[in-house]
Amino acid sequence: MEIEATNPTRASHAPSDETIIALRDVHKSFGPKAVLRGVNLEVQKGTSAVVMGGSGSGKSVLIKHIVGLLKPDQGEVWLLGHRVDQLDDDALDRVRLSAGYLFQGGALFDSMTVFENMEFFLHRHTDLSAAERKERIEETLAWVNLADKASSYPAELSGGQRKRIGLARSIILQPQVMFYDEPTTGLDPVSVRTVAELIVRLRDERGISSVTITHDLLCAKIITDRAHFLHHGRIVASGSLAELRTTPDPVLQEFFEGT
Ligand SMILES: Nc1ncnc2c1ncn2[C@@H]1O[C@H](COP(=O)(O)OP(=O)(O)OP(=O)(O)O)[C@@H](O)[C@H]1O
Ligand SMILES: [Mg+2]
Repeated sequence: MEIEATNPTRASHAPSDETIIALRDVHKSFGPKAVLRGVNLEVQKGTSAVVMGGSGSGKSVLIKHIVGLLKPDQGEVWLLGHRVDQLDDDALDRVRLSAGYLFQGGALFDSMTVFENMEFFLHRHTDLSAAERKERIEETLAWVNLADKASSYPAELSGGQRKRIGLARSIILQPQVMFYDEPTTGLDPVSVRTVAELIVRLRDERGISSVTITHDLLCAKIITDRAHFLHHGRIVASGSLAELRTTPDPVLQEFFEGT
């Protein structure tokens, strides 16, 4: 990976406390392929943002920059008041404890029960005692309405249940902000609604802000305060979902007609 020096003449000032995420002119290429070509994006505290865009447009790459899994070639990435693109690994690990990430595909260990999956995660990232871990796991499973699945293996769950377990695992560290990469892909409309409503409840009852990548209009409609459309490496439109859907831009029209 090549990292260009950032332009020292460009003043870097932190966004306001209300702005939990800010990307400023973020560029990223993989070899000759320019994926992000000047992304500007802000997400305000207590809101749920949605990022839409075609397959391969760079949505997952964008989120990976916010959580520091990828470094930009150029530009600034702010999360919870930190320049994540400039943090060393230890500092990044500390910031990441405040940010949960539900990966595209879920990423549960198949050889572990639901309880063990959650326990593994808690054990690795916290100093909680075994009793405290058990209490936290039970409380979190109850919250996603799957308390009865603690001793099940991922293969024994439905797709929607697996998503909810993945969600439970990613909120168990009690993050301030959540990133959801395609949380409802492959689910039937009832399950889509369940997962989307959980995301809304996390915002409204626990104050967890979020960024969600989704192709799913029902999901987007339920959760979003503000939607952003990524195309050719830039955010080309931002607004309410209704505003995006009625934008005359043919690129957006084609996207919404196709979904
Ligand atoms: N680590 C990587 N190394 C090289 N190329 C990458 C890497 N990660 C992503 N890419 C490329 O960047 C482009 C954007 O990928 P990304 O996963 O962000 O797409 P996406 O918008 O999330 O698509 P989808 O909707 O299908 O998930 C793709 O062309 C992909 O091949
Ligand atoms: Mg993706």
